[in-house]
Amino acid sequence: MQVERPMRAPASPTASGDALRQAPDPTLDIGPEEFRRLGHELVDRIATMLAAMPGGRVTPGEPPRAVRAALGGNGLPAGGTPAAELLDEATELLFAHSLHNGHPRFWGYITSSAAPIGMLADMLAASVNPNLGASILSPVATEMELQVVRWIAELIGFPAGSGGLLVSGGNMANIVGLLAARRAKAPGDVRTGGLRGGPQLTVYASAEAHTWIQKATDLMGIGTNAIRWLPVDADGRLRAADLEAAIAADRAAGAHPFAVAGTAGTVGTGAVDPLRDLAAVCRAEGLWFHVDGAYGAPAAALPEAHPDLKALSEADSVALDPHKWLYAPLEAACVLVRDPDALSRTFSFDPVYYHFAGDPDDPPVNFHALGPQNSRGFRALKVWLGLRQAGRDGVVCLIRDDIALARALHRAVEARPDLEALTCRLSISTFRYVPPEMRASAAAHGEYLDRLNRAVLERLQLGGEVFVSNAVVDGRYALRACIVNFRTTQADVEALPAIVARVGAAVHAER
Ligand SMILES: Cc1ncc(COP(=O)(O)O)c(C=O)c1O
Repeated sequence: MQVERPMRAPASPTASGDALRQAPDPTLDIGPEEFRRLGHELVDRIATMLAAMPGGRVTPGEPPRAVRAALGGNGLPAGGTPAAELLDEATELLFAHSLHNGHPRFWGYITSSAAPIGMLADMLAASVNPNLGASILSPVATEMELQVVRWIAELIGFPAGSGGLLVSGGNMANIVGLLAARRAKAPGDVRTGGLRGGPQLTVYASAEAHTWIQKATDLMGIGTNAIRWLPVDADGRLRAADLEAAIAADRAAGAHPFAVAGTAGTVGTGAVDPLRDLAAVCRAEGLWFHVDGAYGAPAAALPEAHPDLKALSEADSVALDPHKWLYAPLEAACVLVRDPDALSRTFSFDPVYYHFAGDPDDPPVNFHALGPQNSRGFRALKVWLGLRQAGRDGVVCLIRDDIALARALHRAVEARPDLEALTCRLSISTFRYVPPEMRASAAAHGEYLDRLNRAVLERLQLGGEVFVSNAVVDGRYALRACIVNFRTTQADVEALPAIVARVGAAVHAER
């Protein structure tokens, strides 16, 4: 529906003939009374949606065509629409046509249930709209981000006095870490001279490392051939001896090894590389030690965490995603650096149009100089509030419970003759459907079982009862449940094996 634009104050012509605005323009403004009413209504609807979510489907499972049709394919309207009408429309669209990763039975990829305080935080943050590029533009927000970075470091045992900042996601946090590594370890001054004519920089990671490293090496101009993908052992971990051999071979061939990227919780199966050993190799070889803990780093907060995981404290840089295992709504990731000056050495420039230096006796922290972004939003608030609401003990209990639920799921899978349990690490369990008559000869039916489980996954993902994703485990296509979800209960995980078996049997019968 087209409506009249809100009434604007008449503009007065000036001597130049321009009509100048004489009062604030109401086109996008909302008066206090209406704002209050719309806000209350919206919060009411969100609360109702959250309360109903566990009883509903995880996803409507609609194809993009159907969603596009629901959205309507019109061009940008010339006229405006009242805010109340728009919020109504957007709320209905979103609630009806979304995948609800806050559902207790959502276990796909590594996306957590978002803590409700984070939803309110995003609204509060936008109401003040601080620009965390510079302290003078975001006085308290900048200090809160600094505090959040210190808390995250403290939570996972990263040394006091380290530095860091928040970025959009795990990819960016890892990319920032690798850029800091290049700044610190590449020969010459890469920031001004680039990489022309220099030796091939090389970085080492396990074959199970996440694709961020391809984007990072591509963006950095060193190319994906810079990555040495090292094979993994039966536990999905790279071996320090392979790393040492690869570094020696590269040096002998004239390359310039500069960094090792260990993983604390691989995206596929949650494997944790032997970080202690990798740290020792990096020290001996003079390489930067980066740890991709986008998923698994928060588990280092558990007193019972494996020493290999706790050894992420020995890294030069660590990536960790609050929007994964700290339950913040998207987007929030953190990169930590052992040397607090490493980021400014990597990213700061001093343009004449900024006047942010402040008082030398009390210098402000200006985040634009510590990372790739210039203007920056207040993503720190949702993390700050979430950490305060749970406290360290709360975070530890939530993570511990998720791990215990993944183990319970794995045990429930093991108990079934038609499911094959594969791996269970951190809070990720992998398994596959194997028709009982093929159980004894599964190896001979490898290709069929891969195809079958792919089809089972598709049906599960569109079915809306549960949501899992996939992994490849020792060359076998597997289903994968990653529990980073404070709404998931024992009953939820124990329901999954029967659902998978039912869907598996149906898909198998159709073939
Ligand atoms: C181990 C690991 N690293 C990096 C990433 C990328 O994180 P993001 O999706 O937040 O960019 C992921 C995402 O799942 C991951 O599991």
